[in-house]
Amino acid sequence: MADEQHTKRQKSGRHSKRQSGRPERGYAIVALDGPTDPVNVGHTLRAAMCFDTRMVVLGNPDPAINLRRLSTDPGRTWRHTPVMSVENIFESLPYRCIPVAIELTDDAEDLVDFQHPERACYIFGPENSSLSKETLAKCDHVLKIPVDLPLNLAATVNVVLYDRMLKMRRPELKPGGNNPHTTR
Ligand SMILES: C[S@@+](CC[C@H](N)C(=O)[O-])C[C@H]1O[C@@H](n2cnc3c(N)ncnc32)[C@H](O)[C@@H]1O
Repeated sequence: MADEQHTKRQKSGRHSKRQSGRPERGYAIVALDGPTDPVNVGHTLRAAMCFDTRMVVLGNPDPAINLRRLSTDPGRTWRHTPVMSVENIFESLPYRCIPVAIELTDDAEDLVDFQHPERACYIFGPENSSLSKETLAKCDHVLKIPVDLPLNLAATVNVVLYDRMLKMRRPELKPGGNNPHTTR
C-alpha cells in the first residue's frame, strides 16, 4: 500500500526525495503590538534577522518610526525579512500559525518549561504598557520569562527567540527534565 502511494505520488510529479536544508522545522514570526520606541524596533529587527525569523509584524506602530533610519538595525532587516505594518496582528497570521502572547502575568506559562509550536507568532506588548486582555484571550498560549520585573521589550524578543532556537536544536533538553543541575 505504501509502495502504491509512493508510485502514485511519483506519477503525479508531487514526490521529491530532496530533504529540506533548513536547520529547523516550522518557523517563527515576531509581532510587536503598538511599539513606540525606534530603538526597540531596531533591536527587534536585528534579532529577527539573526535568529532567522520569517516575518516581523508591527501592529499600529508609532507613525514616527522610520524603518529606513533605525540606528539599532544596521543590517536594514526589511531588505531581507518581510516587515509588515498592520492594524490587526491577528489578520496577518499565516495558515495554522499559533499565536503566543509574551507577557508577564501571574498565570502565564513559564518559558523555561515551554515546548515551542512548530509554527509560532510571538506577540509582544508596547514599551509603556502591556498586551490587552483581548489580545491575551485570542492567543493559544501566554508565556512569561520568570523574572520579578519586566524586561526591556527588545531584550524579551531576544530571550524568546534564543529559547526557541535552543529547544529546536536540542530536543533532548526536555523542559523540566534531564538537567543534572536542577532538582525540579
Ligand atoms: C517593557 S514591557 C512593558 C512594561 C510593563 N508592562 C510594566 O508594567 O512596566 C514591554 C513588553 O515586553 C514583554 N515583557 C517584558 N518582560 C517580560 C517578561 N518577564 N515576561 C514576558 N514578557 C515580558 C511583554 O510583551 C511586555 O508587554
